[in-house]
Amino acid sequence: MQILSRRPIVAGNWKMNGNKSLVSLLEDKLAHEDLSHLDVVICPPFPYLGLFGDTVSLGAQNMSMHDSGAHTGEVSASMLQETGCSYVILGHSERRADHAETNEIVALKVEKALAAGLTPILCVGETEEIRDGGNLFAFLAEQIDAVEQQIGILQFAHIVLAYEPIWAIGTGKTASPEQAQEVHQFLREHLAKKNSDIATKINILYGGSVKGSNAKELFSQQDVDGGLIGGASLNPEDFLSICLAAKQ
Ligand code: 13P
Repeated sequence: MQILSRRPIVAGNWKMNGNKSLVSLLEDKLAHEDLSHLDVVICPPFPYLGLFGDTVSLGAQNMSMHDSGAHTGEVSASMLQETGCSYVILGHSERRADHAETNEIVALKVEKALAAGLTPILCVGETEEIRDGGNLFAFLAEQIDAVEQQIGILQFAHIVLAYEPIWAIGTGKTASPEQAQEVHQFLREHLAKKNSDIATKINILYGGSVKGSNAKELFSQQDVDGGLIGGASLNPEDFLSICLAAKQ
């Protein structure tokens, strides 16, 4: 399970993309580089999880809020753990929007993931309307607080946060480094009201149109500890350059 260290993390979220040959292409690309300064995580669709060797850490893109039972099509936290996952993305905006995952459901999933020894990558982020309406920080605080109320602040020692503004996902419209820093700092300060040690040490990743060309500037911000990468994680060359841009 994740131990707080602020060691950079670059996680590739393939979403419902990729194929078997991308697994080997990506592994070949990463195998020859010294990436020991960061944790490289790949979150492919479920069927490809078992195909990866130990070049990268593995994460799932979702999991069930139930332990087992009559839930056709669902995958449990312990199954992911047995399959070699160390991480699981939870609360991604696409799950919240397409599968009606509320803050409460996300909080229950985070609790289940932790119980199975997985590190949740807890995603938060606002729409353009929320930002433009001046409700950005209240909205993000609500997303975080729902989880905090379920698991308690101390469990945040085993969580990675990801700030993914919805308006920047898959749009090519990246948050500026200053916009990312402002929110990451807010998230840290918000957690610090409950526990300053955890707030100082928690990893906060930025996600939303990160590319090889903008990663270095984003990752150089004080409170940005790496990235959650969608589209660019499907291109081994681009993904490698993002990994290399992570802070030493
Ligand atoms: P893009 O990098 O394609 O904008 O996606 C970001 C994302 O949603 C990662 O989880």
